[in-house]
Amino acid sequence: MKREESKALRRLKPVVKEEHSSPMREMMKMMEEKQDLIGLSAGEANFDPPDALIALATEVMKKGKNQYTSTNGIPQIREAVAAFVKDQWGVEVDPDENILMTVGGMEAIYLAARIVLEQGDRVLLPDPGWGVMRTLVERLGAVAGYYPLLEEKRWSIDHEAILARMDENTKLVVVNTPSNPTGAMLSKEGFEALIEKAEAVGTFILSDEVYHSYVYHGEHASGLSFGRLDNLIFVNSFSKAFAVTGWRLGYAVAHPWIIRQMGIFKESISLCSFSIGQWAMAEFLPHGKEYLGKARDFCRKNMERLLDGLNAIPGVRCTPPMGGIYVFPDFSEIEPSSQTLFKRLLDAGVAVAPGAFFGTRGEGHSRLMFACPTERIEKGLERIRAAVVG
Ligand SMILES: Cc1ncc(COP(=O)(O)O)c(C=O)c1O
Repeated sequence: MKREESKALRRLKPVVKEEHSSPMREMMKMMEEKQDLIGLSAGEANFDPPDALIALATEVMKKGKNQYTSTNGIPQIREAVAAFVKDQWGVEVDPDENILMTVGGMEAIYLAARIVLEQGDRVLLPDPGWGVMRTLVERLGAVAGYYPLLEEKRWSIDHEAILARMDENTKLVVVNTPSNPTGAMLSKEGFEALIEKAEAVGTFILSDEVYHSYVYHGEHASGLSFGRLDNLIFVNSFSKAFAVTGWRLGYAVAHPWIIRQMGIFKESISLCSFSIGQWAMAEFLPHGKEYLGKARDFCRKNMERLLDGLNAIPGVRCTPPMGGIYVFPDFSEIEPSSQTLFKRLLDAGVAVAPGAFFGTRGEGHSRLMFACPTERIEKGLERIRAAVVG
């Protein structure tokens, strides 16, 4: 039945207009139709989660921990998160007041944006930056402005560039450190200056640190480390760190008023987060450091291999990322349109993410994920070389 023929379907008011549907969907469809594809486009680690975590998940499932939990998350996981935060960034947070467990970092981001933003509010986002953030801001009726990340500055997040664009009219600044797709980071001094100005002008900062455990150059500075929570909404997730993207488990750390608002809103969205993940992670997290270190070292080797391989291809330039699980090479000498390059590489049997998805400054680039078996990187490099050099 066609939409025009159905009374009910005609009354459907699409929240998302068809023309705004993610270009990622179209890309996924094209990739699904391909056989023997080397996948370097996914936004997730393609290796195994810790064995002990899987064993714990199986055990708690058998022990009947399959029911709803409280909306904010079981006390045990919030206590484990508070201990993790203290250990990593030296700051005390209250497990009852400052922490909300969420359905991945994504739900924390959605809830934060939903409670902070009203129609017409101004938001500052990085360019290049994670496209989902831009879509979310637009869907909530807020107005996105951008601060640039410059490749010649190794993509680093320049706090001066943010401060110069930020005033009383800025409701929210989004920082993603290390960044998707560039691996850029914000320095500790930069963060401090940002928090100071945010407090002075009444702006919120959403600090998305889901890639915090993958750092290769310098130290990861967290927005949390200053212990100043009035303006900060810190978002983290187990997805990337422990290779459990499908578990959909993350968390927000923020001021009690913000956490309360987000928690109340969450009741009408997801009710609670993945119970088994919470129980298993509560036990595992205090012992998770070794895995995080191994995953980072493994990714660093892959990153270096990919970087060398890409830079050896005539016409390709790749800046080393400071962190994260992606490189963001410039292919513009070979092909200025990242969508056209995507198709060319797909025909050669390798999937990447077109740089244009990450903002105007991403054009000419492609994002390649390196948190995967090293053989995949070798094969991917071979195919890229064949596709662009011939
Ligand atoms: C920058 C960034 N933030 C947040 C997320 C959301 O991750 P999750 O919801 O799996 O925790 C992603 C996923 O790709 C991301 O790249």
